[in-house]
Amino acid sequence: MRCIVRGGIPLRGTIKLPGDKSLSHRAILFAALAEGRSEIENVLLAGVTKPMLEALTAFGIQWRLNGQHLTIEGEGLAGWKDPTKVIDCGNSATTMRLLAGAMAATNVSGVLDGSVGLRRRPMARIVQPLQKMGVNIQSTEGCAPLMLQSTALPLRGMEHHLSVASAQVKTCLILASLVADCPSLITEPGPSRDHTERMLGSMGAEIKASIIEKDSKKLYQTQVMPLRGELSPLQMHLPGDISSAAFFVVGALIAPASQVWIETVGLNPTRTGLLDTLAEMEGSLLIEEMESQGGEPCGCLDIRSSNLRATTVAGERVVRMIDEFPVFGVAAAYAQGETLVADAQELRYKESDRISMLCQELRKLGVEAIETEDGFCILGRGKVHGGVVESHGDHRLAMAMVIAGLGSKEEVIVEGAEVIDESLPEFIPLLRSLGAEITCEN
Ligand code: S3P
Repeated sequence: MRCIVRGGIPLRGTIKLPGDKSLSHRAILFAALAEGRSEIENVLLAGVTKPMLEALTAFGIQWRLNGQHLTIEGEGLAGWKDPTKVIDCGNSATTMRLLAGAMAATNVSGVLDGSVGLRRRPMARIVQPLQKMGVNIQSTEGCAPLMLQSTALPLRGMEHHLSVASAQVKTCLILASLVADCPSLITEPGPSRDHTERMLGSMGAEIKASIIEKDSKKLYQTQVMPLRGELSPLQMHLPGDISSAAFFVVGALIAPASQVWIETVGLNPTRTGLLDTLAEMEGSLLIEEMESQGGEPCGCLDIRSSNLRATTVAGERVVRMIDEFPVFGVAAAYAQGETLVADAQELRYKESDRISMLCQELRKLGVEAIETEDGFCILGRGKVHGGVVESHGDHRLAMAMVIAGLGSKEEVIVEGAEVIDESLPEFIPLLRSLGAEITCEN
């Protein structure tokens, strides 16, 4: 599918976004590990969450969906059965990495596989530490397919030092640590999202987070105690996805005379790096905080067109906005001045090499974008030209390029835009509801 974006039109109105992707993945999976009936409201139903839901069926877990309301009948860790077929994780690394941890905790045997794109994503980062804990798991040269065989429980509780902050790896290891013989400790160099700790904590798991200083660097530690009983079921209304909101936030900042109100999104501080950065760039962005939902801070956003100024993003801030760089690159192109991003090498291992592909596609729109090993430099001139750009099979790059078109005087055409359905099938209809003029054709 190609989307043709006619820019220069104000975005005005109110939108409500589907449930958070990370919370949806976790709620689906953790409810299946609990004992009893869980009720989850506003779950995200998109390309990346469907494989997780379908995997539950393969593991013998019953679930029902009524609109966005999901009911899951958990039978505890012992209720999981060996699947009779290969589990297809689609394009979702979160599904694969979290399921590997859940399979270790439930001691089932099976194979996890996925799309060609997912087979390229690094899996040694979960396979090696799981093996050290005693999990019988093999990869295919560090990638999917992953083969797991049941083994003697308990697993070995131990210390893991992650070289890259990663909530997916952390979650995988937390799940395996629930059935270990002693407490485990996971140390990360940055504040990766802590939804797992909050959600499993609310279900009865004992998980403690702390920050220590070593060699004058901050380290983020997560201590996991072995489970002493079953996990309690989950009752949760999921807030809207702040990473999806990010596209509309940048769209409203760069399209002329815009004012957009975004209803209840998650504002977990491990996810709000982009909002902090855009505020530093002088973006007009008001946050109305609300009562938290299921232990997750929430709020509404008011965004108005702004003249953005260039900035620098590095260190911990990178981790707190790890999914937002494609659209941040667009904001940087519309800002005045040189924006620098460093310490962001991990972007090369996402759905596409987001450093290379973002710079390459922005250049097609006349933006001066220079790739570095661990980031990029964008010389913002307050505008982009028209042009034809590609998604490279990356949903966030596709959406970012559509947003880039909203402020342009000439048409921006985004090829491969069908991939947007991976995380936000409502993206184009929601933009149109705010006044955007976008035509899509197959
Ligand atoms: C996610 C963690 C992040 C993020 C991904 C979702 C999660 O990945 O990029 O979209 O739900 O845990 P990493 O853990 O690889 O940083």
